[in-house]
Amino acid sequence: MARVYNFGAGPATMPVPVLEQIQSELLDYHGEGLSILEMSHRTPAFSAVIGHAEETLRRLMGIPDTYAVLFLQGGATLQFAGIPMNLMRTGRAGYIRSGLFSTLAWQEAQKHGEALVVASSEGTGYDRVPDPGSYTVPQDLDYLYLCENNTIYGTKFWELPDAGAVPLVSDVSSCFLSEPVDVTRYGLVYAGVQKNAGPAGLSCVIVRRDLIARGPAKAYCPSYLDYRVQDEKDSMMNTPNTFGIYACSLVFDWIEAQGGLEAMRERNRAKAALMYAALDKSSLFRAHAQKASRSMMNATFRTGSKELDDEFIAGAEARGMIGVRAHRSTGGMRASMYNALPLEAVEALTAYMEEFEAAHPAEAEAAAAGASGEKSARSC
Ligand SMILES: Cc1ncc(COP(=O)(O)O)c(C=O)c1O
Repeated sequence: MARVYNFGAGPATMPVPVLEQIQSELLDYHGEGLSILEMSHRTPAFSAVIGHAEETLRRLMGIPDTYAVLFLQGGATLQFAGIPMNLMRTGRAGYIRSGLFSTLAWQEAQKHGEALVVASSEGTGYDRVPDPGSYTVPQDLDYLYLCENNTIYGTKFWELPDAGAVPLVSDVSSCFLSEPVDVTRYGLVYAGVQKNAGPAGLSCVIVRRDLIARGPAKAYCPSYLDYRVQDEKDSMMNTPNTFGIYACSLVFDWIEAQGGLEAMRERNRAKAALMYAALDKSSLFRAHAQKASRSMMNATFRTGSKELDDEFIAGAEARGMIGVRAHRSTGGMRASMYNALPLEAVEALTAYMEEFEAAHPAEAEAAAAGASGEKSARSC
C-alpha cells in the first residue's frame, strides 16, 4: 500500500511503526480479549496505559513532580478558557499576539478578566514573533501567555520572553516534543496532541502544582477544567479519551526509541535546513517568515500568484504530497514537517519545487524582479 507524504498541519502524519502496532493490537489488546476502544478506563489494563503515558512523557521532557501532567479532552482550544479560569487570580494577564491562535486565546481570556496585549507582530503580518527587546512585562500579571510555534504563519519563539517572576504560559501545540525543553521555565505549558503526538481531541497540560493548589481562580470554572481536580483524579474525573491516550503513549515510546528529544531535534533540523535552503535559493517561491523567527515545524511560502500557488499544490498532490495548501487565512503554501515526517518527504517536495520553478522561468524572473524592486524600495 502506498502512503502519501502528509504535510498537513494537523491532524498530521504519525509514525508508521505506531500505526502498525495499533493495528496489530486492535482486536485483542495484550490478551485481554477486547480492543482498547472497548475497554473500561477503570480496568488495570487501561490504568497501566495512562500511567505509562505519563511516565514516558515525564522522562522525555524531564518533568519534575512539582508539575501535574493532565490528559484532557477538547483539544488546545478548550484550554484558551481553562487557563484564565484557573490562573487569573488578580484578574489581569498578559498576552503576546503572534498569530491567530494567540489572538483567539487572548479573545477568550477577555471573558474572564483583563487581557493585556504585551506585544504583537500583527503590524508586520505576523511574519515574525515580537522582538524580546521591544517590550517589558508588567510584574503584576497573573501570567504571560504566548503561542510558541505559530502553525499558520510558520514562526517560532527561539528565545522565551523574559517575564521576571510572572509565570509563563505557553501553547506548544505545533512544536510539542520536537526538541529538548526546560519545563521549569514555564508555569504552564500545553499542547493539542494532533501534530506531534497522536489523534485529535486530546491535549496535554503540564502545570506547576503550586499554581493550582488553591483550585481554580474562577468559582464558575467547570469541574472538568479544574486542573486541581483533574490532577487529583489522574485525568480521569470522567471517561477520558482512552484511545487518544493509548496512541500518544505509543508515540512517546517511539520518540524514546529514536533517542528522545535530542534525536527529534536533529531530525527536524535536517528537514528544516533542506526546506529553507530551497526557499532561499528560489526566485519563484518566497518564505513568509523572517529568518530569525522561522519555525522548524511549519514552513510557509508562496509564489505571489494565486493561480501559480494552486497549480503547485495540485502538482504536489498528483505526486503524492498532500496537505501543502496553507491555512485559509494566509493563502499560499505550508509544509508542516512534524517529527514523524521522514526526510525523504522534504527531499521530494524540494525536488518538486525546483522542477516547478524550472518549468516557469518567466514567472520566476518576474518574481525575482519584483523581490529586488521591493528590496530597493525598502532601502529608500
Ligand atoms: C498552535 C495551535 N494552538 C491551538 C490550536 C487549536 O487546537 P485544537 O484544534 O486542538 O483546539 C492549533 C490548531 O492547529 C494550533 O496550531
